[in-house]
Amino acid sequence: MIRINENYTKLKASYLFADIAKRVSAFAAAHPGRPVIRLGIGDVTEPLPPACIEALHAATDEMGKRATFRGYGPEQGYPFLREAVAAHDYAARGCHIEPDEIFVSDGAKCDCGNIQEIFATDARLAIPDPVYPVYVDTNVMAGRTGPSVDGRYEGILYLDSTPSNGYVPAVPAAPADLVYLCFPNNPTGAVATKAQLAAWVDYARRNRAVILFDSAYEAYIRDPQIPHSIYEIEGARDVAIEFRSFSKTAGFTGMRCAYAVVPKTVTAWDKQGRPHALHGLWNRRHTTKFNGVSYPVQRAAAAVFTDAGRSQARALTDFYLGNAKLIRSAMAGLGFTCAGGENAPYIWVNVGRDSWEFFDLLLEKAQVVCTPGAGFGKCGEGHVRISAFNSRENVEQALERIAAALR
Ligand code: MLT
Repeated sequence: MIRINENYTKLKASYLFADIAKRVSAFAAAHPGRPVIRLGIGDVTEPLPPACIEALHAATDEMGKRATFRGYGPEQGYPFLREAVAAHDYAARGCHIEPDEIFVSDGAKCDCGNIQEIFATDARLAIPDPVYPVYVDTNVMAGRTGPSVDGRYEGILYLDSTPSNGYVPAVPAAPADLVYLCFPNNPTGAVATKAQLAAWVDYARRNRAVILFDSAYEAYIRDPQIPHSIYEIEGARDVAIEFRSFSKTAGFTGMRCAYAVVPKTVTAWDKQGRPHALHGLWNRRHTTKFNGVSYPVQRAAAAVFTDAGRSQARALTDFYLGNAKLIRSAMAGLGFTCAGGENAPYIWVNVGRDSWEFFDLLLEKAQVVCTPGAGFGKCGEGHVRISAFNSRENVEQALERIAAALR
């Protein structure tokens, strides 16, 4: 008799954004005359930068000619993209990352979810709360946790992100082996200073731990003092893996292109205490389970690093940050305390009441979709996340509707 992976039975019935999409579809079907504005899932709305479109067309034409046609590419990504990432995203910021330490993939969600496979099943986890649900759910699936009790899985060291610590958790006293960090943060929009990240790097070095650093939203940082990469911190090359994506940087959510950085110096140990470079393990996993991102998409991603691509991508993030400013100021004007929205595309609103109830109220009364904070963890209760990813017209209309609904 074939049996299931029973760890799946510990999970909530559906993934947060799938759950919200279901509720919104049911509402839309029941109220066809009341169009819904979606400020829930962080999905971009604006067209791709023209430089990316040109590169995509040119690469598609190459695929149509025998002389330039390409079949399988290197699983880790084409050298032209890995070299561009190393030069522009790392060397330009003073970080030493080699092109062959970059693994191109079809999404940071997949990378963040898959990376746990190369670690022991009894690795001790430290995970912020609230958090992007992928980090928790994939570890539950892998059997690294006990059941969920009162909204928290046994076996996870939760790092509370609350108004009192500015939504940036401090280093705990207890040791952990695998630490998930995300800055600019999803969902709170909080950013971490160099000193705060340095404390985490020091913690990882002391505990022989690894930091999984999700910096998918780094392109939204405008404060020059805030680090964009964990590798801006001395010593991070030995203890950190970083995830980045073109999704929110250049509007690639529908294109699918991201990358993980696994420096050759990041180490973990086997039962006998022998060190292993994680680069080799991830390379083995990646080449076994992944056949690479399509050539035209990688060409489009590389175009983000051209002069035109950089200024067009910057205009996109500036645009969404303009939305974020409007949202934050409107919600603050309604009397709510807000975080985020300044160096991040998410505004974390302290609504001071049940977050699903507030979600329902906005949907019913304003036909606006937000994300209930409780969906990101216990500490998310009492908050909602509003995403800045939409057209200006929709954001302005959503804010008018919210103000009318709450008046
Ligand atoms: C979010 O809304 O949190 C993100 O869009 C989810 C994702 O990037 O997978």
